[in-house]
Amino acid sequence: MKNIILDCDPGHDDALAMMIAVASDDVKLLAVTTSAGNQTPDKTLNNAMKILTLMKRQDIPVASGNQTPLVKKLETAGNVHGKSGLDGADLPDPDFKPQKMTAIELIAKTLRESESQVTLVVTGPMTNAALFLRVYPDLARQKINQIVFMGGAMGLGNWTPSVEFNIFVDPEAANIVLNFGIPTVMAPLNVTHKAQILKSEIEQVKTIDNSVGKAFYGLLSFFEIYHENPKWGFKGAPLHDPCTIAWLINPNMFTTKLMNVDVETKGDLVRGETVCDYYDLTGKPHNTEVLLDLNREAFIDLIMKSLNKFN
Ligand code: BDR
Ligand code: CA
Repeated sequence: MKNIILDCDPGHDDALAMMIAVASDDVKLLAVTTSAGNQTPDKTLNNAMKILTLMKRQDIPVASGNQTPLVKKLETAGNVHGKSGLDGADLPDPDFKPQKMTAIELIAKTLRESESQVTLVVTGPMTNAALFLRVYPDLARQKINQIVFMGGAMGLGNWTPSVEFNIFVDPEAANIVLNFGIPTVMAPLNVTHKAQILKSEIEQVKTIDNSVGKAFYGLLSFFEIYHENPKWGFKGAPLHDPCTIAWLINPNMFTTKLMNVDVETKGDLVRGETVCDYYDLTGKPHNTEVLLDLNREAFIDLIMKSLNKFN
């Protein structure tokens, strides 16, 4: 059983990541912290609490993180995730309160209370993770064995030609996390664009006879629309964020390569680009295990089985 903390900005694919984590017997979700990203921080916090309420897991503590990226002005992704950040389903209003402490205080408390090491999973901009490492470096080194994140790409971009959204929002934070010294696992666009759910599979979700399945049918149907634009060349919707949890549950689903990954924080065209040293040209430490490919069928099977576990 792997203990995890999920720092996220729900967000449709963040919500799916949370769902498979809660459904799994292989990972234990100790806490959820929320970042500003897909929507403003008030909305991402509310969305995380709605999803936990939907899954009847109000026992999992939730705290809101920094209100803005470290340096840049916040840019959100309402064009992808809608006005609420989680459009497409009628979700229950949260029936519990967030923690009074901040995200980084909740991460610290959770780590201190955990007897074993914890994996920090980040599926939004890395603002909270970076702040945590800066404020609690010793606790982080002692208790976080790995930081698994969705973000970046090798030679691709989904927000600017060479920059992925999560890193675009807070490149300085990503730079801090990647250079801190705790091993990282990266789910870049190269793999998450292969983690597509087809329209026919979304229709299968419709047949799942529980409230979580019904809500995710609405969410996935909404999320799919943005990705129908032929410019992407997709057959369905790329499920970026669940790749992180899927990797923790079953790493055999993925092929990976260890390499040095750094982040460009300057430059008009490339600020936020992840620089992946695939051929080891720099000789710099292999700080990151990069997910390169996945067994799509096994991944979708995990999503379906997870949704079916709720009642
Ligand atoms: C990432 O950006 C967000 O819109 C998604 O939730 C995902 O984390 C993909 O680039
Ligand atoms: Ca996200």
